[in-house]
Amino acid sequence: MKKHNISTSFQIFDQVSELTDIDQKLVLAAKDALKDSYSPYSKFKVGAAILLSNGEIIKGSNQENAAYTMCLCAERVAIAAADSVYPKEKIIAIAVTAKSPTKPIDKPIAPCGACRQVLCETENKHNQSMKVIMQGEVGQIVIIETAKDLLPFHFDAEFL
Ligand code: THU
Repeated sequence: MKKHNISTSFQIFDQVSELTDIDQKLVLAAKDALKDSYSPYSKFKVGAAILLSNGEIIKGSNQENAAYTMCLCAERVAIAAADSVYPKEKIIAIAVTAKSPTKPIDKPIAPCGACRQVLCETENKHNQSMKVIMQGEVGQIVIIETAKDLLPFHFDAEFL
């Protein structure tokens, strides 16, 4: 038996103003997407914004349903929108943020497990790593250079 370790490298920023101009723009777009969240059940708003290789920014927000399991996460809404409208463009980065009705979120919000799986597939699909930028309503920003670092041992087409 051999023990192995997986390490993940990421950057932490204290202020949005420390990010590159385009990353700042992406975080602002994700925050703007919060207004389009349809979340009457959880009241928890999630906003995402995607940067495409042609420079376009595509927004997404969580879209809930009275049949709860039909709820769509903001990240997957944004990815589906981007890949439907611009199927040929690579996805370079995604910013994610959230707003809770009960407390200010002061920690970087991270994509759920299902969204991580979809982010990994999207990287494979476009043969392009996707930078993931995470921030709560306020507070530090975490940037990870590839979605795969968020999901070690992810499932992909090689297993099929
Ligand atoms: N949600 C997202 O939009 N993204 C995530 O990565 C986690 C959760 C949404 C789903 C649901 O509408 C609400 O947040 C509460 O779980």
